[in-house]
Amino acid sequence: MKNILVTGGAGYIGSHTCLELLNSNYGVTVVDNLSNSSTEPLRRIEELTGKKIDFIQMDIRDYRGLCSLIKEKSFYAVIHFAGLKAVGESVAMPIEYYDNNVYGSLSLFRAMRDNGLNKIIFSSSATVYGNPETVPITEDFPVKAVNPYGRSKLFIEEILKDIAASDSNWKVVILRYFNPIGAHESGRIGESPKGIPNNLMPYITQVAVGRLPELNVFGNDYPTIDGTGVRDYIHVVDLAKGHLSALDNIDRLDSLEIFNLGTGRGYSVLEIVKAFEEESGKKIPYKICSRRPGDVALCYADASKAKALLGWSAKKNINDMCRDSWNWQSKNPAGYCEQ
Ligand code: NAD
Ligand code: WQD
Repeated sequence: MKNILVTGGAGYIGSHTCLELLNSNYGVTVVDNLSNSSTEPLRRIEELTGKKIDFIQMDIRDYRGLCSLIKEKSFYAVIHFAGLKAVGESVAMPIEYYDNNVYGSLSLFRAMRDNGLNKIIFSSSATVYGNPETVPITEDFPVKAVNPYGRSKLFIEEILKDIAASDSNWKVVILRYFNPIGAHESGRIGESPKGIPNNLMPYITQVAVGRLPELNVFGNDYPTIDGTGVRDYIHVVDLAKGHLSALDNIDRLDSLEIFNLGTGRGYSVLEIVKAFEEESGKKIPYKICSRRPGDVALCYADASKAKALLGWSAKKNINDMCRDSWNWQSKNPAGYCEQ
């Protein structure tokens, strides 16, 4: 059995990936400092799969801790999710973001190198494309992050490119996620943001469940189908499966490859509201507000490279995403907090 070290595995995308890994008979060790999560999703994954997760509460900036762990276990590869991800917070706290994301990643890469572990899949983001000149976006589009969070992702990508160039034994896969939403179809694991959500879908589900009064739609004067922002929403289970495809193919790939993980289709804010209302049977009251600074009009992927090289494509549609988001939120109105 191949053992995978999953950093940030207690988080939203990490937990869904752990579940898919266990279902595909990988062994899973999670390192997470629980700064934005709890062990509850891991407990539920064990319940759903009937398999054990090895959990270590550790910060990835703990180089010595990582070294002992890597020495002790023989890992096949690392999937690196650990990081802070709130754009607004990154503008207010750039030092914390660079320290956690960039320094934390360096500590992980150094521990890997020093202990002969050289396969890594890294969570990057469509945010690295900034405001793209056209859509759909291919992996060779110019990158230009517009906030410290995005720049932390870009810096880590650059570090990984240098590492791969320095030693051809490394296998590095950079996955640029578009907008992950949805939840596992069991409704047992999902997204559980702390405080008021920054992102569209958790905001909508919290309106639907009565925790928030109405949705603020950030602008209806963009050059899009109905004036509201268009994004490439991808079901988190499809996204999780993208990591499995990357793992399965990692030995056949070049030293470093970058893939967009999206559906290739964009939906506007109002289209998402409509699909959510259809799937949940709940009315989502909303008001149109001014644009959110830093938002782009249109962002969706050309995901054909992942299809060609990894044999992966997203299978779930927007109604599946809305149904599963609602299934999770309605069964867990306060996320993991009430347990
Ligand atoms: P999340 O916050 O739910 O999960 C991240 C996990 O990492 C959390 O459990 C947190 O406790 C842990 N963590 C943070 N810093 C750590 C550290 N220094 N040491 C150990 N653990 C640490 O976020 P997510 O949505 O699951 O995102 C996972 C990754 O994907 C992140 O790197 C994020 O930047 C990236 N990403 C997310 C999105 C999105 O919209 N959710 C989009 C693109 C990329
Ligand atoms: C989607 C659309 C908003 C909230 C962010 C990060 C990005 C990546 C994914 C990590 C936009 C509109 C939103 C609300 C709204 N994360 N909206 N009312 O901004 O595309 O991407 O998450 O890497 O880096 O920036 O996602 O869900 O915040 O917004 O009208 O209350 O919904 O304007 O058009 P975004 P989002």
